[in-house]
Amino acid sequence: MTAASTVKAIGVDERGIPMVDPAFVPQVVGGDVDWRGQLDALREAFPLFRVGEDKTIWVTRHETARELFADGETFYEPNWVQQFGSHDALLDGSGFKPTDDFDAVAGAHRQVRLRRAVMEHFTPKYVKTWEPRMHEVARELLARFSDRGECDFVNEYSKYFFPYLSAQWLGAPKKDWDQLVQWQHEIFQLKPTTEGDRMLHMSGQAMNSVLQYVSGLIAEKRVNPDDSFTSYAVHTTVDGTPLTEEEVRGIMTITVLGSAHTVTAHLGEIFRHLADHPEHQKLVAEDPDAIDALGEELLRVRSPFGHSRVVTKDIDFHGVQLHRGEQLFVMYSMVNRDPRCPGFDQVDVERRPNPHLAFNYGPRRCIGLHWARFARNVAIEEWHKQIPSYRLGVDVTELTEQIYAGTGFPSLPLVWK
Ligand code: HEM
Repeated sequence: MTAASTVKAIGVDERGIPMVDPAFVPQVVGGDVDWRGQLDALREAFPLFRVGEDKTIWVTRHETARELFADGETFYEPNWVQQFGSHDALLDGSGFKPTDDFDAVAGAHRQVRLRRAVMEHFTPKYVKTWEPRMHEVARELLARFSDRGECDFVNEYSKYFFPYLSAQWLGAPKKDWDQLVQWQHEIFQLKPTTEGDRMLHMSGQAMNSVLQYVSGLIAEKRVNPDDSFTSYAVHTTVDGTPLTEEEVRGIMTITVLGSAHTVTAHLGEIFRHLADHPEHQKLVAEDPDAIDALGEELLRVRSPFGHSRVVTKDIDFHGVQLHRGEQLFVMYSMVNRDPRCPGFDQVDVERRPNPHLAFNYGPRRCIGLHWARFARNVAIEEWHKQIPSYRLGVDVTELTEQIYAGTGFPSLPLVWK
């Protein structure tokens, strides 16, 4: 029986939105579970749905997701100050809640200002200056295990690769790098939350430690400026005015949290695919120019997580009445595999352009995407220079995957001759 033929709602809410069995949307699965096939089936069955009694509404189709991401005032993502400027909301796990006097337009405009203030550190030109260091970090990590004939890809390579680079870019001293890696990894492990609440909550000891660390780094760079990103954020201005303490804290926290598990998860998904596809290993080993398109296509078909938006006014959305304060959620893997988007029913590792939404779309598109792409490509290139051919080191049933928040594969054993 196919997943598509087994999808049915267990009920509908008062507006007719289907409520699906939570078993269709697990949080952690075994490596042999075709959870993406299950989500594909849900997308084909329902343009919108809810998971059991959970209030969040999932948006499943590519065009609809693009539309909601493009309208950042109606479908709001809290700006960096609202999300991370005050660390209290993060520490108690409550996050952003729109108050009665909340102004989405002002909030969105402030975010544009903040992004502009730090953009210089995210341009392709700036990121390219880090390319030699990216190669060095990849080679340093590979030297730890390439002679051994086996490794845990996640716990020995991808978990460290970008966090080591970003720690250096942020201006953290080398003695702190491993500690930062451990905290970043821990924050994105799913923890049990209240009954029916299925989203990731980032509170906890590791989160607390990262927030304290970020505050300490900011204070240090105010006194001892250098060429790090933290120092840049502390000293940058908009229209001649320095950023507030809250703004700097917000920017630094989102950068620490947004950069580590994302690249780790993406690389894990790529190498999980490559481990079963020797023809694609050969392609990237023989032609480094093929890496970027392959990486983007695997980001499309194996997108690692999803993001939500808060509805800021009562609105009719594709025939469904939405209310101010409700939450919508998009799982990137689901919308990026929508066959309504021409060509998306086939895996094409040479696809260009690739209009996937894995970096989001519109005003809140990933500001770090050039970092992500450059670094990913270097991590793949350096690996294949030394280990051109490899396969899974365990039976697929022994793998687990954390599917819609967090780090993808917590462990990915690979072996080679
Ligand atoms: C493959 C790796 C990555 C993926 C798939 C990814 C994906 C995303 C997505 C989907 C968003 C939008 C979040 C939302 O709408 O709520 C986002 C935002 C963001 N990302 Fe990335 N990201 C990656 C790597 C990075 C890296 C390496 C950095 C930093 C160097 C970074 C920094 C950020 C920041 C600061 C934001 C917030 C932008 C804003 O709120 O305006 N990301 N990322």
